[in-house]
Amino acid sequence: MIEGSDRRSRIEWVIRQCRLLGAIGDEFERTRPFAGMTIGTGIHLEAKGVALMLTLQRGGARVISTGNLNSTQPGAVEYLNEHGVEAIGGPTQDVAERNAWIDQILARKPELILDNGGDMYVRWLGRPYPELLGGTEETTSGRILLAPLRERIRKPILVINDSPIKQFAENRHAVGQSTVESFMRLTNMSTNGRRVVVLGYGGVGKGIAINFRNNHAQVAVLELDPVLRMEALWDGFAVPDREAALRTADIVLTATAGQSVIGPNDLELLADGAILVNVGHLPVEIDVPGLLASPLVEAVAPADDGITTLRLATGRSIHLLTDGHMVNLAGPRPLGNSIESMDIGFSLQARCLEAVALGRVGAESCVVPVPRSIDEGVSRAWVELAAGDA
Ligand SMILES: NC(=O)c1ccc[n+]([C@@H]2O[C@H](COP(=O)([O-])OP(=O)(O)OC[C@H]3O[C@@H](n4cnc5c(N)ncnc54)[C@H](O)[C@@H]3O)[C@@H](O)[C@H]2O)c1
Repeated sequence: MIEGSDRRSRIEWVIRQCRLLGAIGDEFERTRPFAGMTIGTGIHLEAKGVALMLTLQRGGARVISTGNLNSTQPGAVEYLNEHGVEAIGGPTQDVAERNAWIDQILARKPELILDNGGDMYVRWLGRPYPELLGGTEETTSGRILLAPLRERIRKPILVINDSPIKQFAENRHAVGQSTVESFMRLTNMSTNGRRVVVLGYGGVGKGIAINFRNNHAQVAVLELDPVLRMEALWDGFAVPDREAALRTADIVLTATAGQSVIGPNDLELLADGAILVNVGHLPVEIDVPGLLASPLVEAVAPADDGITTLRLATGRSIHLLTDGHMVNLAGPRPLGNSIESMDIGFSLQARCLEAVALGRVGAESCVVPVPRSIDEGVSRAWVELAAGDA
């Protein structure tokens, strides 16, 4: 655990490394796009999120924040509250408790919402207020939830995850790296020669697969979409059938945005010692309640270091990392994705919120990708920064 001033210096280290956000913050202090507005945010409260909130604040916003399930870092909450951003709540796995915090934010009628998973917009729909201008949604899971609600929402909501630069910088490169880093930190095991199965070959699955391969694992991909399955094969991964893959896997990772893609029926298939890891946004890709309730499970040995062991009647043991919550953001001392990747993704957030605040996008842009002009602007700024370093 990082304590007191160490925690502060870690957050300040991260803020200093968020160079794109730093430049946007300097500009926002002059242009004040959010002057007089409140922004309600429901995004992971960890050091990189802090850098984003403070950037929005520099643009004149009053920022009120709560975290996501099981990823809130108390040090981040404390730091925000010390720096004029109201941060509500703390680490929780309790959906009702988090919903109550979201409701506290919505009661302040923020003009802009920065959501991560769609639940803040869904709760706004339960009690809509007309002052909401719109906002952003960070994730694929949120897009899937909100797209069918477009007719009811009728406000601009820009989906950050659908930006091509977010796709390659964060989803493909950074999540793969941080997943390998988290796996090794939590288990202290090597990846060499391990038989790894990745479920899902979207941007996130692609990054996980290549990063485990680059760390000398033998990687197989399970993907429902036949075109992506073929792409995995062309990228050099095995694409076995599901049952054969699960029977021999040492490590099984989920990155599908789906539900119960690994569940109690798989317990009979999994090999002794198999390690289950979720990387998807919601803690539902591995059906943890279903696994725990299975008659095959004889004993559960929870560990406070992020590894839970299920002992099966068959004599085998299966391990679960971080209770099925996102492995790179849950568990002991999570670092999340690299600072640079989040600096890019959060710069998209800042620019998209600016576009909504200034009325540059209208209700027709409800649950749509980031406008191309914003992708181009953030890319240019990044390349210029990198060129300046040369
Ligand atoms: N942990 C993190 O830091 C982090 C960061 C970004 C995104 N995410 C999350 O990762 C997940 C994946 O994101 P993405 O952008 O790659 O999504 P995506 O929609 O591009 O890809 C998911 C893929 O999974 C496949 N799939 C669905 N159900 C499946 C099943 N039962 N078996 C095999 N394949 C299946 C789909 O066909 C799809 O191709 C999402 O939940 C997203 O929110 C996590």
